[in-house]
Amino acid sequence: MVAADVAAVEAIERDGFINPYPPNTFMAQLALPHARVTVAERAGTIVGFCNYWLLADELQLLAIGTHRGHRRTGVAQALFAHMGQAAAAVGAATALLEVRADNHGAIALYQRYGFVELAVRRGYYSDGQDAVVMKAVLPWLDNVT
Ligand SMILES: CC(C)(COP(=O)(O)OP(=O)(O)OC[C@H]1O[C@@H](n2cnc3c(N)ncnc32)[C@H](O)[C@@H]1OP(=O)(O)O)[C@@H](O)C(=O)NCCC(=O)NCCS
Repeated sequence: MVAADVAAVEAIERDGFINPYPPNTFMAQLALPHARVTVAERAGTIVGFCNYWLLADELQLLAIGTHRGHRRTGVAQALFAHMGQAAAAVGAATALLEVRADNHGAIALYQRYGFVELAVRRGYYSDGQDAVVMKAVLPWLDNVT
């Protein structure tokens, strides 16, 4: 992601996420050495993004989103393939994420890459929803073909 992409990424996030990040979060990511935001494009249009951190030997997935009109067409799958390569390049051994317990679509996606439940944070989100902490061993499975 470059600065010119931020508005498109924020639009996908605002439309798709129940708890979007505060304004300027994505712009701020550009200045963090351990942070990456990668966009997926189709025909020159941004259709998805992932925001992750590579810290020590861990990949932390902060957010992944696909434009509503492009879901279930392999965008997240392409972003996961990219993150797998980025993690391998720095020798990351594990991946961690937090997801709303009621986000069954995202959890199904993560399970296909080998993520398993590590812990539940009760009432973690502002609406009282639990957060599920999930962990995967790298290189992750790619059961999505
Ligand atoms: C979750 C999300 C990122 C998935 O993106 P996507 O580009 O549609 O995912 P893909 O097309 O690459 O799906 C790959 C596989 O993941 C699984 N999957 C993805 N979305 C799913 C859903 N809603 N229900 C069940 N399985 C799902 C499927 O196994 C899918 O393969 P298939 O379509 O051949 O069955 C997208 O639905 C989204 O942006 N949701 C809103 C934001 C969000 O909740 N992000 C996650 C929390 S940070």
